[in-house]
Amino acid sequence: MDFDIADPSLAEKGARRIAWAGRRMPVLETIRERFRSQRPLEGRTVAACLHVTAETANLMMALRDGGAQVLLCASNPLSTQDDVAAALVEDNIPVFAVRGEDAERYYRHIHAVLDAEPDVTMDDGADLATILHTDRTELNPVGSTEETTTGVIRLRAMAKDGTLRLPVVAVNDSATKHLFDNRYGTGQSAIDGILRASNVLLAGSTVVVVGYGDCGRGVADRADGFGAKVVVVEVDPIRALEAAMDGHQVLNADDAAEIGDVFITVTGNKHVLRGRHFERMKDGAILSNAGHFDIELDLEGLIGMAVSRRPLRENLEEFELADGRRLCVAAEGRLVNLGAAEGHPADVMDMSFANQAMAAEWLIGNAGSLEPRIYTLPEELDDQVAAIKLATMGCGLEELTEEQKQYLASWQVGT
Ligand code: NAI
Repeated sequence: MDFDIADPSLAEKGARRIAWAGRRMPVLETIRERFRSQRPLEGRTVAACLHVTAETANLMMALRDGGAQVLLCASNPLSTQDDVAAALVEDNIPVFAVRGEDAERYYRHIHAVLDAEPDVTMDDGADLATILHTDRTELNPVGSTEETTTGVIRLRAMAKDGTLRLPVVAVNDSATKHLFDNRYGTGQSAIDGILRASNVLLAGSTVVVVGYGDCGRGVADRADGFGAKVVVVEVDPIRALEAAMDGHQVLNADDAAEIGDVFITVTGNKHVLRGRHFERMKDGAILSNAGHFDIELDLEGLIGMAVSRRPLRENLEEFELADGRRLCVAAEGRLVNLGAAEGHPADVMDMSFANQAMAAEWLIGNAGSLEPRIYTLPEELDDQVAAIKLATMGCGLEELTEEQKQYLASWQVGT
């Protein structure tokens, strides 16, 4: 079996972490049990480009139990958990991922999983899908799935200019994905990453959240819970207003730059914090990013402004400016929750990856009848995922009476 990982001897540690995560993923486990008996992916190959974490390992194992041959590479050079990669290889799942790999090795790994001529590709950020449209046009998978907002935006741009040649399931569009993973997962794990990188006290400090979408809302809410003064920067007036009424201070980036102690970008956009903002920041400000790509902070600009740079701690680097101020960047400006912590908790990846598993099944089940466009999983699957999750959390769910159903469906009765 061909693979490329950092250290096979880490397998036992990885296996223990995978098992721990698996215990907290009951919805995925329900699907895995059904996959074991129904084998909906029998004889098919799934190539995945996802963060190589303990939660992803559980997804890979569920797909294999569904009959698929699976291969995995990383969707970010800094997010790979080398122990998990080792455990998967030990379990005969080929992995091509090494934490800290350079761009050449990262793309070599992407090509390695595509060499298996997959029936389904699974993306977090659309890297496989993009290569399928450029270097590997000879490959014709049944379809692809996409995990994150930025990937869906890239794929929608392809669909808009008429170049998309595959059916794609936008897993991020499922309610049981973006309303929970992006919000509660990023909310908790981005704060976790900042704390592990810096160990700063958030209580009483000013945390600036740039972008108030699903992720930004979660991050702002969790920072608020730690006792921070939260400042939100937004370009969308509705979301800015929402942030204001959620109790946060809302400022433009120039004004926020002057007062922030900790900055977190979650916009999916480029250079949202750049030279003009770095010029205004306080000595010791911590800069981090939880958006998909490492483009939200203009790091090249910062490097150009700095007179020196040095590592401060693991995952925290200091840049000294000509006037003596020092700005500290966490996790190289890459996803701070995966670069400096372990990514989202398994409890929330449970629902995201239940959707991924069902998306792969749906693509195979509908092979041949799909068009090259972006699909969202049927609403009833979303409801099923939510219902299973609720039950495993010990929550109750009220049911509509016949009288209530009729009332809601009628227009004649007003009172
Ligand atoms: P979203 O589209 O719901 O929110 C993004 C927000 O940023 C929007 O409200 C937009 O108006 C705002 N924005 C754009 N440019 C801006 C600028 N220059 N200044 C201030 N605000 C600006 O997207 P979502 O779902 O919150 O995702 C954000 C990013 O996080 C994406 O790149 C996504 O792929 C990524 N993501 C990261 C995760 C992680 O584990 N760290 C998990 C899920 C998503």
